[in-house]
Amino acid sequence: MTENQTDNTRRAFFVKLSLGLSALSAFVAGIPVISALLAPLLEKTPEVWRKVADLDDFAIGAVKLVTFENADPEAWAGITASSAAWLRRESESTFTAFSVNCTHLGCPVRWEEGAQLFMCPCHGGVYYKDGTVASGPPPKALVQYRVRINKQQIQIQTAPVPITTL
Ligand code: FES
Repeated sequence: MTENQTDNTRRAFFVKLSLGLSALSAFVAGIPVISALLAPLLEKTPEVWRKVADLDDFAIGAVKLVTFENADPEAWAGITASSAAWLRRESESTFTAFSVNCTHLGCPVRWEEGAQLFMCPCHGGVYYKDGTVASGPPPKALVQYRVRINKQQIQIQTAPVPITTL
């Protein structure tokens, strides 16, 4: 083997080594990015039933603000681990629960008993009592939670906070 052939072989080896190390570095550096991108697809927030009131607390037709802990709060979440919903007793055995979050940009809506409307203070969104949009920028009706009665308790099936995504 000539000296020139030895140099070419050595050069080819270092080129391959360099490319291999570059690919390995890119793979290692990309793991956190790929993990962050896939996390929402892989981690599904559990849906958990939470007690929000006793059955005797509600007259038929009453609408009350109820609070509950989110399905899967982080240990550091503090007060942000809590959510709220507007709960209405429709009949002896049926309830409707609306998310307090406006479907426009997530501001908390309030219930106006006299007008029988949900009002959003941020940009004037208005919803009818069935949660459908009456006026303003909200693109869709208020999100509803599933509700059940279990042993004289009213329970809501929690879910991720329903804020509009772009
Ligand atoms: S956030 Fe409610 S109308 Fe904009």
